[in-house]
Amino acid sequence: MAVKDEVLRLLEVHRGSYVSGTDMAEEIGVSRVAVNKAVDSLRKRGYGIQAAPNKGYLLAEDTDMLSTAAIDGYLGDAADLFSVETYSSVGSTNDEVRQWAQQGAPAWSVAVAAEQTQGRGRRGRSFYSPGKTGLYLSILLRPHLPVERASFITASAAVAVARAIEEESGGSASIKWVNDVFVDGRKVCGILTEGGVSMEDGSLDTAVVGIGINLYRPEGGFPEDIANVAGAVFDAPCVDMRNRLAASILKGFYGLSLQMGGPEMLEEYRNRSSVVGRQIDVVRDDRRQAAMALAIDDDLRLLVRYDDGAEEALQTGEVSIRCR
Ligand code: BTN
Repeated sequence: MAVKDEVLRLLEVHRGSYVSGTDMAEEIGVSRVAVNKAVDSLRKRGYGIQAAPNKGYLLAEDTDMLSTAAIDGYLGDAADLFSVETYSSVGSTNDEVRQWAQQGAPAWSVAVAAEQTQGRGRRGRSFYSPGKTGLYLSILLRPHLPVERASFITASAAVAVARAIEEESGGSASIKWVNDVFVDGRKVCGILTEGGVSMEDGSLDTAVVGIGINLYRPEGGFPEDIANVAGAVFDAPCVDMRNRLAASILKGFYGLSLQMGGPEMLEEYRNRSSVVGRQIDVVRDDRRQAAMALAIDDDLRLLVRYDDGAEEALQTGEVSIRCR
């Protein structure tokens, strides 16, 4: 571990109280000068670190900076299961992790960012990923699943995100088929899963699950094109929420992945559905067709009945809930 990561880990452990520079130097096994340098470099990266004579250094309580040390801290014993890399800004966490996958990185390698400059959404859209107000993470899986079971990965991630949001915010989160997470009728999270298929047996051997969450409303509001759909999980900044939420999602998703698509997950996914039992529009190439959402079947398909009585099982696609 680099000295600055060691220093950050110690400051994280004592977050909100002072740690002496000499104690840190001794514990890490480096000079005081090296500790000072590490603190300077952390400050340059945006960490709010105060210094006081005869007391040492203090990492501000309200710092909401991403750090591997902090996420590992919240993961506790589960930290060993993951290899987490954090970024204050990156092009796209999915692109990072896809690159790692090509270089042979193991499952549960995770990229977490506070900002994306080229965030990608489903259907080739861009994904609004400003700094300060969001959390963006991508998780590498080596699932060896039949390709037709791929949607269970995304659904499990959606369930994990909904659970984590509820745990951290106390609010309730629903899932809009296929995999958008909603709070108070607004989209707070989108998920993009990208996969690679094995040439040997045609199974899904690599999947990159990308999760983007609006924690807070951006100053000045959301851009016009998403303003009537997008929402935020929290009304006001919360202490260290990025690290806490990232750890909570990872733990939950790992647990669900042990029985990917098992009956428990399926039941929760259905119970959290915000579309079943509602009048919806099925959207295809900008055409809308009114339908009733009847159920989600065992293969996660959305069963719908159109106004002319015809029924269809939708594999994937886009639906919007109609106003009453
Ligand atoms: C959608 O709602 O269209 C899906 C959005 C998925 C966004 C996440 S943010 C982390 C990861 N990196 C990306 O570029 N996209 C996904």
